[in-house]
Amino acid sequence: MFLTRLLYASTASEQFKPLDIEDILTKARKNNGKLDITGMLCFSNNYFLQSIESSRANVNELYHKILNDKRHSNITLLDYKEISEREFGNWSMSYVPDTSLTASLNLRFSESSIFNPYKMSGESAHKMMLELRNALHNVT
Ligand SMILES: Cc1cc2nc3c(=O)[nH]c(=O)nc-3n(C[C@H](O)[C@H](O)[C@H](O)COP(=O)(O)O)c2cc1C
Repeated sequence: MFLTRLLYASTASEQFKPLDIEDILTKARKNNGKLDITGMLCFSNNYFLQSIESSRANVNELYHKILNDKRHSNITLLDYKEISEREFGNWSMSYVPDTSLTASLNLRFSESSIFNPYKMSGESAHKMMLELRNALHNVT
């Protein structure tokens, strides 16, 4: 089964409470670890940006679950492609808090210094996540 990567943007809904992020990450890490799903989740400015990598079947199945999750809305597919290797292979779901999404990083990959993944191309969003991943590598 081919390796696939999916990127989407979404907006935290009224049902989302700040503590939900812990719940989402705990569940994601538990489920993803069992299914060889890897990736990264960013949350800032009430927006989510997530990259998911795994087999096509696993990516599609998870995306369906995510689409039905009432804690977010306006879920918009930014990119979906077959890939030859994983970029987030060390993480069942890496988390990027809003302090890492600096004004200069946003300005480099989008039209504004304020994080808004709806205004990013799939390619820019992916490249920004690679920068964030590399920064994580440098501190750990
Ligand atoms: C922004 C966001 C990201 C999520 N990411 C994941 C994920 O990477 N993996 C996962 O299993 N669930 C993720 N979830 C949770 C799913 O929507 C769903 O609640 C969960 O997969 C259900 O797991 P269960 O079938 O084991 O109960 C995410 C939810 C949100 C709102």
